[in-house]
Amino acid sequence: MRTHYCGELNRSHLDQGVELCGWVHRRRDHGGVIFIDLRDREGLVQLVYDPDNAEVFATAERVRSEYVLRIKGRVRERPEGTTNAELYTGEIEILGDSLEILNKAETPPFQIEGYTDVGEEHRLKYRYLDLRRPEMQSRLLLRAKITSFLRRYLESQGFIDIETPMLTKATPEGARDYLVPSRTHPGHFFSLPQSPQLFKQLLMMSGFDRYYQIVRCFRDEDLRADRQPEFTQVDIEASFIDEQEMMQIMEEMVRQLFQDVCQEQLAATFPRMSYAEAMSRFGSDKPDLRIDLELIDVGDLMREVEFKVFSEPAQDNNGRVAMLPVPGGAKLTRKEIDEYTKFVGIYGAKGLAYIKVNDPSQGAAGLQSPILKFLPADVIDSLLQRSGAAAGDLLFFGADSETVVNESLGALRVKIGQDLDRVKEGWFPLWVVEFPMFEFDAKEKRWIALHHPFTAPTVGDTAKLAEAPGNALSRAYDLVLNGTELGGGSIRIHSQEMQATVFDILGIGKENAQEKFGFLLDALNYGCPPHGGIAFGLDRLVMLLSGAQTIRDVMAFPKTQSASCLLTDAPSEVTDSHLRELGLKLRKSAAS
Ligand code: AMO
Ligand code: AMP
Repeated sequence: MRTHYCGELNRSHLDQGVELCGWVHRRRDHGGVIFIDLRDREGLVQLVYDPDNAEVFATAERVRSEYVLRIKGRVRERPEGTTNAELYTGEIEILGDSLEILNKAETPPFQIEGYTDVGEEHRLKYRYLDLRRPEMQSRLLLRAKITSFLRRYLESQGFIDIETPMLTKATPEGARDYLVPSRTHPGHFFSLPQSPQLFKQLLMMSGFDRYYQIVRCFRDEDLRADRQPEFTQVDIEASFIDEQEMMQIMEEMVRQLFQDVCQEQLAATFPRMSYAEAMSRFGSDKPDLRIDLELIDVGDLMREVEFKVFSEPAQDNNGRVAMLPVPGGAKLTRKEIDEYTKFVGIYGAKGLAYIKVNDPSQGAAGLQSPILKFLPADVIDSLLQRSGAAAGDLLFFGADSETVVNESLGALRVKIGQDLDRVKEGWFPLWVVEFPMFEFDAKEKRWIALHHPFTAPTVGDTAKLAEAPGNALSRAYDLVLNGTELGGGSIRIHSQEMQATVFDILGIGKENAQEKFGFLLDALNYGCPPHGGIAFGLDRLVMLLSGAQTIRDVMAFPKTQSASCLLTDAPSEVTDSHLRELGLKLRKSAAS
């Protein structure tokens, strides 16, 4: 039906006859001449109809926004002064000589053209219209380019694409599972995979050596701008490989991807940083290195001070007292500081002490702060020295459990960086390595795996590991880009004894382990190669590369923050007979 896409036409097509199909983006009547911007997935082109051909002109007059047209015409240069440098097709236009209305359209619930502030709910409800917007079209086209590149790269490195089941057993990645009731086994449920973790490990045991899959994963967890209940992983696993080789292949993939699809140059080698250093300097295991603010420990200075808010966490093994120097921050008003105090409150901080540095050469006399009266002169001197503060700077302080201080000052660092325009341009990738193997969950009083329970510890000795789980480091690695965790992986446990020890430390008893992961423990006994892998969040990658603010904007049909689909109205109720067939009955609270 057509010879070209609208958006691909330029001067090289001058004088050619073309046939196009698309949607009416905009129609303008200019005293006897009708202009139509025709749109398809590749872009817009301007059509011109003049009254010489009365019949065609009459049809053009009937055309409205979003009508679907098929046209024929000739490409010509736009008259001088009417070119549009912002449009790829802006130097040319099509003088139309036929126009067929393939379908009419009602006035859409929001304008596709000249998109203004339409609420996201509206956009999601009419997603098929929202996706017509050139911005959304280009994001999904970019997504397709990215997956196409990744497939080519991985296949060139010998990785093969193997599918794994969607109806399966729980995979422990730390979120809740989505369950699917079985009709043929009443009272039994499948889980949708949180990741293909166990299957990809089994594939290594089967000898497939290098596997990849671009695969949907499902996690029932609290949603944020960079999390969706179903999302896509670029999932990778390889045998006979160590963490250095794995990181090197993946780094090259990401570097080439940025070069290939966006002509963006990433560093020749990505820096590496231990988890401990990242937490200490940035309060986060996914630090945004575009922002140059850093946390500095001051617990050692605060152990003996009168101010209990500081001295107690300073003396507590699980406590932390840290400062966040903000260059130029002394200009912050009382009201702004109160706002930041509220902000850190979200992360559980009980306050946000500060010192304004007016003139550091005067010692305490050159400072302004509600906590000066609690701090001896030598402590104040040391604070100034350690922070390197200059006139006009401000020091923020956090004192609490290590977790609260890291989360609150870590988030404050990013927020202030943004508010004070301290976010550098460019890409700042980082490998975070040397993660702790386990984390103690104080509420549940048990160890939990920081990555997942199949990650290998750096120590090979099971007795040593069991003796002091809190000291063990894992062979895990995360790739962080501009403050987003793009991917994470690890070298895996390949010995049955080590896997059983780790389950034991995690409080997964023998019986429970057998019931949940018996197939894996069995498989480990039949010749398991050393192996490791990684998974990237494809949606996050596309979000960063397209400059979108949320991963919803790079998915064709995403869910809302409350995990529903406004377009199809899912999840929805089911009939009693359907429930009966599945052997299910709703509890009163869910049914009402
Ligand atoms: P992990 O749980 O770190 O590792 O997930 C890997 C990557 O997937 C992305 N991601 C998400 N993206 C969108 N919405 C979500 N809800 C979501 N959850 C995770 C992140 C993350 O870095 N099996 C292991 C990988 C391995 O060890 O090989 C795993 O799933 O970008
Ligand atoms: P107060 O004596 O409670 O009025 O606190 C004095 C200053 O310390 C105020 O600026 C508080 O915001 C701050 N502050 C209180 N608790 C903490 C805390 N846990 N960490 C950091 N600053 C705090």
